[in-house]
Formats: sequence, C-alpha cells, structure tokens
Amino acid sequence: MTNQTPKIKERLLSGMRPTGLLHLGHFVGALENWLNFQDEFDCFFLISDYQALGDYPDRIELIRKAVYEVTLDWLAVGLDPQKCTFVVQSYVPEHAELHMLLSMITPLSEIKRNPTLKTEMKQFNLKQISLGFFNYPGSQVADILLPRAQIVPVGEDQLPHIELAKKIARKFNNTYKNIFPIPRAIIGRVPRLPGIDGNFKMSKSLDNAIYLSDDEKTVIKKVKKMYTDPKRIHANIPGTVEGNPVFIYHDAFNSNVEEVNYLKELYREGKVSDVEVKEKLSRALNQFLVLIRERRKKFERWPKLLREILYEGSKRERKLAKETIEIVKEAMGIIY
Ligand code: TRP
Repeated sequence: MTNQTPKIKERLLSGMRPTGLLHLGHFVGALENWLNFQDEFDCFFLISDYQALGDYPDRIELIRKAVYEVTLDWLAVGLDPQKCTFVVQSYVPEHAELHMLLSMITPLSEIKRNPTLKTEMKQFNLKQISLGFFNYPGSQVADILLPRAQIVPVGEDQLPHIELAKKIARKFNNTYKNIFPIPRAIIGRVPRLPGIDGNFKMSKSLDNAIYLSDDEKTVIKKVKKMYTDPKRIHANIPGTVEGNPVFIYHDAFNSNVEEVNYLKELYREGKVSDVEVKEKLSRALNQFLVLIRERRKKFERWPKLLREILYEGSKRERKLAKETIEIVKEAMGIIY
C-alpha cells in the first residue's frame, strides 16, 4: 500500500443549447462520449440557456420548456447526477462575467472569421442578428474556461469554438497569469449523423430528426420514409452502401454487426429490398431506445427532482466559478 493521494480527475465541460428535444445525432455526436466520461473525469454538462436566447430572443417559453426536455433526455440516456454535474448557464452569473472580461482580449477578427458562426449567420437574416448571437463563440469560450476545463467533447461543427478557447486561454496566460489549462476537444464516434431526408445533418430545424423520446410507431414511420439509394427503384438493382443514411444508421445503432455486414453484402448485390433493410433498422433503433424511453418515463414523474438536480449542480459549479473570477480579476489587476 502506498499513501498516495487519490488522483485528481481532469475536468471536462460540454454543453447543449436548450432549444428542444434531443435526437439520435446528439447521442452519437456527444452523449455517448459523455456517458463514457462520467466515471473518468470531473464532468460539467451545461445547459446554455443564454446562448439559446441568441437563437430565440423572443421565445423564452420555448427555452424554458427545453431546459427540462434536455435534462430529461440527459437522464434518460443514463447521465447520472451523482457522478457528473448538470449546470444551467444563467444560474451561474459568472459565465456572463467571464465572457465580459475575456471579450477584452478577444480579437474581433477571430469572431468574424469563425466558420461555424459564418454558416449559421447565413441561415438567418443578417440584419436580424443580435450582438449577443454574434458573440456566442466568445461566450462559449467563457463556458469552457470558467471551470478551467481541460477536456471538451463536442461535435465536429463546434471545433472552431474550441480552437478559439485555446487561443484565448494562451493569450490570457501569457498576458496576465497562467490560470487556464489549454482545453482539448474530443470528437464523437459519428461526428455528424445525416438526417432521415439524407440532408447532411440531423437537426430539429430541418425537421429530419429521430428523437430519443420518439415512440416505437414514430420510429417505424420515420425509418419507412428514410432517404436511401435513389437509383434503386427495384430490390434487384445493386445498391450503394457508402453514404447511404440507412446504412450509416445501421453502423451507428445496430449492435448486431454480423447482420449489418450481411445486409450490406446483399444490398450491393441487389438481393435485399430497401423495405427489409429498413425493417431491420427500425427494430435495431427501437431496441436501442427501449431503456432510454423507460428512464425518461420514470423521471418525467419527478419534476421537482429535475429542478433540484439543476439547482444543486449549478451551485457546485458556482463555487469553482467564483474562485476563477477572483483569480482572473486579481491577475488583470481589477482590485481597487
Ligand atoms: N454550442 C453548443 C451547442 O449548440 C452548446 C455549448 C454551449 C457548448 N457552451 C458550450 C458546447 C461549451 C461545448 C462547450 O450545442
């Protein structure tokens, strides 16, 4: 026996905007990783309601509802508040304070050329974009640096924000004092899941998502409608597996690898119908979702518990947050 102190776990932060129900894309892009990490790291999972306000400044009722939907979905997939910390961004005002302070050393040009922001801005009417929305990559940097997180598991589209967080952390450390670890990103097993319409990304706004809370019948209906190889007007025409959403989903969610490989083989040879491949897929998806639905139902009955989880988690992060703000202000010389 050695009398070593127990290893201090590295800190991890990730987050989601509360804008609605979570879907399969969230699972393979993020949640699955989060689940694996909750034992290994000291995890903070953030519900970024302020960031969501940038998308929906006039729809607080949508955000309010989504805060609980996201919490339910997180619990449903198996995140355990005994092991990890759920945080509501607005419950910890230090998120906003650090955002303000870091914005003083964030070059405007860095925000302007952020590729993810650029894409999102094109989706909106440029004239309607608020300063708050424009500066959300900066707010995300503060989210990450506030608990001084070392690890940030995210989807591919979030990488530019993590790059910015690295730059700002380095700049702060060099300019004032070495306070922030340089965070590193971890990408999910399936960085981007296509929608059921074959569109490049599964997303609520594109109306092409299968939700973690969808019931069995809905899953079957959605899978039936799914986009596959458009050249295949007959089951005996050889089909393309690569890039075919039905097979991307099989690979992501069907635990019976042998079945998937066999189906691929038959599909390529024109020996299996799309209908059959889809039937097998809905079965696999519904199997995958059984436990998630069960847990969700259980937690739906305890709204009080959900509020408590969010409140207690935020309180825990806030302790760290206050500490960070104190040393940041001191390093910047904001003491009068
Ligand atoms: N932008 C993320 C999303 O839309 C949410 C988010 C907010 C986040 N703050 C974060 C992700 C910090 C990672 C780290 O889902």
